[in-house]
Amino acid sequence: MPERKPLRSYVLRQGRISAAQTRALETLHERLGVAYRDAPLDARALFGRAAPLVVEIGSGMGETTARIAAEHPENDYLAIEVHAPGVGSLLRLIEEKGLANLRVIRHDALEVLQHMIPDGSLAGLHLFFPDPWPKKRHHKRRLVQPPFAALAARKLAPGGLLHSATDWHDYAEQMLAVFSAEPLLENTTSGFAGRPADRPLTKFERRGLTLGHEVYDLLFRRRP
Ligand SMILES: C[S@@+](CC[C@H](N)C(=O)[O-])C[C@H]1O[C@@H](n2cnc3c(N)ncnc32)[C@H](O)[C@@H]1O
Repeated sequence: MPERKPLRSYVLRQGRISAAQTRALETLHERLGVAYRDAPLDARALFGRAAPLVVEIGSGMGETTARIAAEHPENDYLAIEVHAPGVGSLLRLIEEKGLANLRVIRHDALEVLQHMIPDGSLAGLHLFFPDPWPKKRHHKRRLVQPPFAALAARKLAPGGLLHSATDWHDYAEQMLAVFSAEPLLENTTSGFAGRPADRPLTKFERRGLTLGHEVYDLLFRRRP
């Protein structure tokens, strides 16, 4: 059977990158970034301790990621983002705030999950405002589909939390249906979760709220 074409959930926009972001990629990445490798990541060696590990997919410009890491020094965080300006921006935040518990990797999150994150190893997985791909013909590029739910569930430790949020109603319904159908996941509530008080507002969320969109959080747990 021919292999299924891998999902490309993003388009690498040319976009502007600031001088400061370029400098951060050049000077901070070696120390505060993680290079992609086709081999399991040793999180203990990376952070120099054993602590619960939370992965964020699509950290954007990284403000929310940095805030969460600063507010939870008991956890370690690995942010995954393909967009160079976002990675540069987050590297600067890690340096400025002296965040020893946050590192960033510039690569496709699906490949990072598949090849670098050991099964059953994550305390949490964050997916905040993934690209909504609103046109029907683009829905196939949405990250949250059954193979993603299975992959995410496999990477979580039993009891680990999958937290996603979106401001697109039909994508929220899709997330709810897809995560609910994954046998290894259970909803921590019925339907959508209320907005957790400890999730800071993200850049894309702010944009959605300005457009009058409602925001939906989903909080699923990996079954024992
Ligand atoms: C709509 S933005 C949301 C950013 C941020 N979470 C926020 O709420 O402000 C989605 C982000 O996910 C990133 N992204 C999409 N697919 C990705 C993938 N497969 N691997 C890594 N990053 C991805 C995009 O580059 C983009 O920065």
